[in-house]
Amino acid sequence: MANAMQNIGACVFDAYGTLFDVAAAAAHCQDDLGGKADALTQIWRTRQLEYSWLRSLMDEYVEFWQITGDGLDYALAALGIDDPSLREKLMNIYMRLDAYPEVADVLNRLRAGGMKTAILSNGSLKMLDSAIDNAGISESLDAVFSVDSVGIYKPHPSVYQMAVDGLNISAVEICFMSSNAWDAAAAANFGFQVVWVNRFGQPHERIPGREEHVIKTLAELPSILGL
Ligand code: 2OP
Repeated sequence: MANAMQNIGACVFDAYGTLFDVAAAAAHCQDDLGGKADALTQIWRTRQLEYSWLRSLMDEYVEFWQITGDGLDYALAALGIDDPSLREKLMNIYMRLDAYPEVADVLNRLRAGGMKTAILSNGSLKMLDSAIDNAGISESLDAVFSVDSVGIYKPHPSVYQMAVDGLNISAVEICFMSSNAWDAAAAANFGFQVVWVNRFGQPHERIPGREEHVIKTLAELPSILGL
């Protein structure tokens, strides 16, 4: 690629929505949900993120696992589903969410090209370790950064600062990937070089920060980096 991104010292990835498919939990319970799987995923994910933002503003931090359960409880109630065993099943699946199909190969290609790789996520370390183990990618990651270390959620700048401090490189040397448009914008606003993985064909959010590149899946990433 003629204008490959320059001076990148590490590729840092958002987790949920970018490496791991947040729709996979409900998708694995289609039969239990009787046609409500898509609605559940939508309400669950929206409340999960809204609760992370609200709790950050309220200075009421709890781990993402708690927020994920609270978001699921809201979504189930909103859909009139009262089924504790289904709730447990959904949460167990969420602990080991499917990775998108291209993830393992892309991480291997980046590492073969000499690139450092890391995850920077709202997820708790326990959640992330479980999903990473399930995806078989632990050997392809140099570091995993969880907001548990700073006690506040994305898009607070202290979250992105963790990758700068932990990898000991400047923000502009970090290539950050997220499928969450608000996360991609905030990371660019912080100072990362950002690639927005627009898996769902969404418009840009109207907030500060603009990515360098937009891709549909992570399979397009190595060529952007000249690898
Ligand atoms: C993550 O931090 C934004 O939930 C997304 O993994």
